[in-house]
Amino acid sequence: MGKIIYSLVSNSHMFRGKKILITGGTGSLGQALTSRLLNEDVDTIRIFSRNENKQITMASKFEDDRLRFLLGDIRDYSRLVRAMEDIDIVFHAAALKHVPVIEYNPFESIKTNVIGSQNVIDACLEENVEKAIAIGTDKAVSPLNTYGATKLLMEKLFVTSSNYLKKERHKTKFVALRYGNVLGSSGSVIPKFIKQIKNKEKITITDPKMTRFSLSMDEALDFILHATKIAKGSEIFVPKLRAYSIEGLKESLFELLDRTDEEIIGIREGEKLNEILINGDEVRYSWEYEDMYMILNPSVQKHVSIEEFSNKKKISNMSEYSSDSVEKIPKDEMKKIILNSGLLD
Ligand SMILES: NC(=O)c1ccc[n+]([C@@H]2O[C@H](COP(=O)([O-])OP(=O)(O)OC[C@H]3O[C@@H](n4cnc5c(N)ncnc54)[C@H](OP(=O)(O)O)[C@@H]3O)[C@@H](O)[C@H]2O)c1
Repeated sequence: MGKIIYSLVSNSHMFRGKKILITGGTGSLGQALTSRLLNEDVDTIRIFSRNENKQITMASKFEDDRLRFLLGDIRDYSRLVRAMEDIDIVFHAAALKHVPVIEYNPFESIKTNVIGSQNVIDACLEENVEKAIAIGTDKAVSPLNTYGATKLLMEKLFVTSSNYLKKERHKTKFVALRYGNVLGSSGSVIPKFIKQIKNKEKITITDPKMTRFSLSMDEALDFILHATKIAKGSEIFVPKLRAYSIEGLKESLFELLDRTDEEIIGIREGEKLNEILINGDEVRYSWEYEDMYMILNPSVQKHVSIEEFSNKKKISNMSEYSSDSVEKIPKDEMKKIILNSGLLD
């Protein structure tokens, strides 16, 4: 398992001339995806989100007349239907995602992450878009918190929505993607450690044994575009990744920056020691395909043309796909990844 390289993406031309809508297009993933798709020769990208200031800032950052900014809330079905007129591909990235905020306001996350996602599905069906891709998370696997539970329901809604497809009327392929924390994304541990070391504060370690999968934004984008290209409908795709331990990460940062003291603060409520992307039960209906895994829920398997994925293999030698059981990134390579991420600048 190494760095994921999906060479087919850049040759695919799948996105050339397409009209794309990104819910949550002003977010960190939305903006990175927009940038990548503009290089793929798309016709238009509609950015769908609530906050006008974020849209104005994004518009002036990109200055590209293929971008359209639509104010709207995914809780509002009729606004989504209007936004999806003539759209070919929908990337559904809008979500409430901050765990402590959601624990305090759980029903708000149900309204956005669950009911909003069903609205996205219904609007995709109404406008008969080609593909609808939901951006999921490891927190949905055997969820410990409300965020994970709402994202699990989002996944379930997406992969089972093939049940609504009428052959003579609908062509939409619904697919869900699952991956963990993107290195350096807001709220993640690397920027926090960097800030603490630079301020000569103690770095706060939850548990030195904690492990996480390693995924840069570029790798996440490669994975998203490749999965979008090959999806037949109703799959959950998961990238094959390497991992790092918090202890290894700390040592890499100390060597790159400086050494400070440390404090063990214990695992936060709702947090897991290791990141799990496929749990023990799901392994039974998961397949290895190219540089990814594919989970096919038995209740919807009949909708998926599994035969169309040649060279796939049933997962056989894994009890669960967890960050503590995969190859760890050596320290020197981790240092290079951090340097190349621009997070130290
Ligand atoms: N960051 C990670 O490491 C990571 C890892 C795995 C999966 N994911 C998933 O990837 C997706 C994007 O994450 P991100 O890091 O880009 O999040 P983010 O930066 O917080 O962006 C979220 C986006 O959703 C929009 N939004 C929120 N509620 C909305 C609503 N009701 N209607 C319309 N738009 C709404 C926000 O804009 P407004 O507030 O203006 O509406 C913003 O554009 C999420 O679904 C998340 O669960 C993220």
